[in-house]
Amino acid sequence: MENVIELKDVGFSYRDSEGNLHPALSNINLSFEKGSYTAILGHNGSGKSTLAKLLNLVITSEDGKIDGSVKVFGKELNGQLTEDEEYEIRRRVGMVHQNPDDQIVATTVEEDVAFGPENLGVEPAEIRKTVDEAIAAVGMTGYEKFAPHRLSGGQKQRVAVAGVLAMHPECIIFDESTAMLDPEGREAVLKTIDELHRSGNVTVITITHYMNEATDADRVVVLNHGEVFMNGTPEEIFTQVDKLRSVSLGVPQVTELFYRLKKEGVYSGELPLHTKDGAAALSNLVKNKRG
Ligand SMILES: Nc1ncnc2c1ncn2[C@@H]1O[C@H](COP(=O)(O)OP(=O)(O)O)[C@@H](O)[C@H]1O
Ligand SMILES: [Mg+2]
Repeated sequence: MENVIELKDVGFSYRDSEGNLHPALSNINLSFEKGSYTAILGHNGSGKSTLAKLLNLVITSEDGKIDGSVKVFGKELNGQLTEDEEYEIRRRVGMVHQNPDDQIVATTVEEDVAFGPENLGVEPAEIRKTVDEAIAAVGMTGYEKFAPHRLSGGQKQRVAVAGVLAMHPECIIFDESTAMLDPEGREAVLKTIDELHRSGNVTVITITHYMNEATDADRVVVLNHGEVFMNGTPEEIFTQVDKLRSVSLGVPQVTELFYRLKKEGVYSGELPLHTKDGAAALSNLVKNKRG
């Protein structure tokens, strides 16, 4: 499979106004395959947003010192890029932020979603189609003429997601995009992520505090103090309960439950990550006890 992102020995230090450097990332070696779905975890300040921002040029060498090689769609970002090349990277790598208010720019939903494609110089007729599709994809059809500031937080975030979708990016990074949402809004954003991933063409990177969201990914990367602390399948990562705890991270509730049962010697099977697997394991446990 083709890698759309390749990071080799990447480091990043923020430069303050006095010119002093503050390290935020070091020794990062990671690659992201086309169409893959990766969840990035780590406590506050572990470097998740810094890593995400390096990938679509929100952070450049103007903001600090980049070490190593940051290759995105074959382009080396740690070096001189032409304006066209920068534009191209920003178009191909979309990002949805934590707070939709940081992302919404226009006074109606449809104008907001059209903003990106308009800037790309897409034909008006094509823009209409793209905007309608993007709004439909996040379940906001019927709200085209609404003012974004009158929508709920969840609806606003869905509009922000539609704005990114309308650019047809090949990679989308969600940086704690569900953190401020009500359950319904969260469900809608997660459904969009799932559909993007299923389409097979879009590479998805999601940064989240919700362990239940990370279990749906193909791979989980745990950052700690700006370094890769763990990198594996959800099964490999979430069954290491003590190791995650050592960096202040938890596991899905159902995993925690079976981890405790195992410690008590009541359960000896594999730790489930999903509720349905937990239910099946519990059912077996009860049946065996009866029998
Ligand atoms: N604009 C900035 N200037 C200076 N330091 C920053 C800036 N943004 C983040 N940092 C620092 O970089 C480190 C990583 O932050 P960040 O990438 O935001 O972590 P996370 O997203 O995992 O919470 C932290 O120590 C943070 O204080
Ligand atoms: Mg962050």
